[in-house]
Amino acid sequence: MAGPLSHARAWRPGVVQQVCPDGVLDLGPGYLAPGLLPAGLLAEAYHGAFAEFGAAALAYGDDRGAEPFRAAVADRVARAEGSACGPEHVFVTAGTSHALYLLARTFAEPGDVVLVEQYGYDLGRRLLRDCGLRPFPVAMDAHGVDPGAFEEAVTTVRAQGRRVAFACLVPTFHNPTGLVMPEARRRDLLAVARRLDVLLVEDDAYAELDLDGRTPPRSLAGLAEHQGVVRLRTFSKTLAPGLRLGYLLADPSVVTRVAEQGVFVSGGSANHTTSLAVAHALRSGAYDRHLTWLRARLRTRRDALATALRSGLGCGLGPGMGAGMGSGVGSTVDNDFACDPPEGGYFLWVRAFAHPESALLAAAEAVGVRVAAGSRFGSGPHAAVRLAYSFTEPDKLTVAAGLLAEAWRSASTTPA
Ligand SMILES: Cc1ncc(COP(=O)(O)O)c(C=O)c1O
Repeated sequence: MAGPLSHARAWRPGVVQQVCPDGVLDLGPGYLAPGLLPAGLLAEAYHGAFAEFGAAALAYGDDRGAEPFRAAVADRVARAEGSACGPEHVFVTAGTSHALYLLARTFAEPGDVVLVEQYGYDLGRRLLRDCGLRPFPVAMDAHGVDPGAFEEAVTTVRAQGRRVAFACLVPTFHNPTGLVMPEARRRDLLAVARRLDVLLVEDDAYAELDLDGRTPPRSLAGLAEHQGVVRLRTFSKTLAPGLRLGYLLADPSVVTRVAEQGVFVSGGSANHTTSLAVAHALRSGAYDRHLTWLRARLRTRRDALATALRSGLGCGLGPGMGAGMGSGVGSTVDNDFACDPPEGGYFLWVRAFAHPESALLAAAEAVGVRVAAGSRFGSGPHAAVRLAYSFTEPDKLTVAAGLLAEAWRSASTTPA
């Protein structure tokens, strides 16, 4: 049976997308460590799917995705949100990257603008650009995208004679900042988007990964009952990215429109066999047991990183990163750094009030720790770095945080 050691042996270039050089502590990428990928669970899930569906698991899948999978996820969403959600609201995708691509193809024309967050998922923006679209950043504050700035952005774009195709945001356990948009802000934003007739795309990649037992606020899609919102979900962050499985939740008219594309009429749904395996894991309870297991492991990793950073950098544990978002006025005003741990997801966002980003990156590289530059994700008044705790073991995170803290405290405060 596969296990962490067998994973490690095959974790090499040519098989996986990224391999960290030997001896480097890897806090760069937003994906799970080999030992957190549930090979055993998935082997059983595929076995269960073949036992239940036989050859039908190997056919072209229904264009919108197999009904048993769509019913299983719709049921899960309806229970979690307390709102109406049925298979007719679900369209199966090959993950969120694929869903974004489909939305860009379905709801936008080359040259259109897509509103994105001031800081946001960089590869999502890259994908939109590849489709000929123009990402336009909207200012964030402690609670996420600012509705006033959102309105201003729409007005500016339209005054230039350009079209806003949709707006894309991650309201829950945001990448890279970790913040969660409170319900009141969600409602305000929905009201503005509705008034201005802008479609919201809610990327919920991390929403099931709450680490402190606090359920996040209702989704934008749930609050809006799917009107004017397309919600994207993926199993990349909770099960495994190699499955390439996710789904979008939308009004049935949107589901029909996406399903009418030739790629599905020709090839059927994305990852049909895998969707039936995951449906099996959802229905058997294996997925929920795995989530509980995974949350505990991510919590341990987050805490190892946050505790060592706090003691090394002297930054406090504030009320989420948002307190200092964009202004530098935060929970740690008497310090050069702010490093508030998130309540969920994969990332801890460190802001630096005295150091330039180039100095932080050079110092991290010099001590053998891979980090993600804040400027990859957007820009603001201060330098920032994203640290992922999803890929590295807790003891190594403690070591990495100690190395980073020491290197950053003595790093230059002038640009190289
Ligand atoms: C916010 C966000 N959306 C989407 C993705 C990609 O998801 P998928 O693997 O489902 O394409 C990521 C992965 O890093 C992400 O952080």
